[in-house]
Amino acid sequence: MFLQRLLVYLSTVCLFFYMISLNLFVRIMNFISPSLTKKLILKMGEKITMTQNPNFKYEDWGLTFTSFNFIKAASRHMWLSLGQEAFVGGEAPDSPVVTMEGEETSICRCVFSADNRPLEFKELVKDFSDVADFLVVYIAEAHSTDGWAFTNNFDINQHQSLEDRLAAAKILVQKEPLCPVVVDEMNNSAAIKYGAMPERLYVLQAGKVVYKGAIGPWGYDPKEVRSFLEKMK
Ligand SMILES: *[C@@H]1O[C@H](CO)[C@@H](O)[C@H](O)[C@H]1NC(C)=O
Repeated sequence: MFLQRLLVYLSTVCLFFYMISLNLFVRIMNFISPSLTKKLILKMGEKITMTQNPNFKYEDWGLTFTSFNFIKAASRHMWLSLGQEAFVGGEAPDSPVVTMEGEETSICRCVFSADNRPLEFKELVKDFSDVADFLVVYIAEAHSTDGWAFTNNFDINQHQSLEDRLAAAKILVQKEPLCPVVVDEMNNSAAIKYGAMPERLYVLQAGKVVYKGAIGPWGYDPKEVRSFLEKMK
């Protein structure tokens, strides 16, 4: 685990410099040539699937990388990611979470109990419900209206209370994720242990972490989970 932890520190430092450079680069490029900047950002957006999201056009998110709120949000995610405890081969950290009914439960109780048949990516769920239970843990909002906001997005402020967080998660539930949704505690216990901010995919098996996706949005890759689960079938 020591080596994996060291890797987390090193990659976080790299990511931090990448983010600062991205911010500066986009600022300068956009000053020189807005059209070329747009081309480059759209190319990056393709990789992180932003461009496939029909709800957003370039103007909604492209230039948010030049904002101070982007630096602030990304730095916070990185800082909190240093506390992660989930490593492939290691034990799956348990963390308290709250059901949509407001009841306290925990990730391990949700995932490792036979009477739960959860979901997220409807497709993944549909195809793998015979080998896997899916659980969505809704964590701190990455794109809050009062933080690193995209225009044309859901209007969600940083949650000030568990009620705020549950209300925001209800928007997600309305999209019928096909699997149980729980929300992280207000101290972000689950997000920290799983290094999950802004988003991350895991596969847990028999109390162990067996797949750990890279950090989102760049590393968020349902396709990788699909091929991992295919091998488990
Ligand atoms: C976070 O809050 C929950 C619920 O109040 C509590 O059970 C848990 O121990 C807290 N975790 C930390 C790391 O403080």
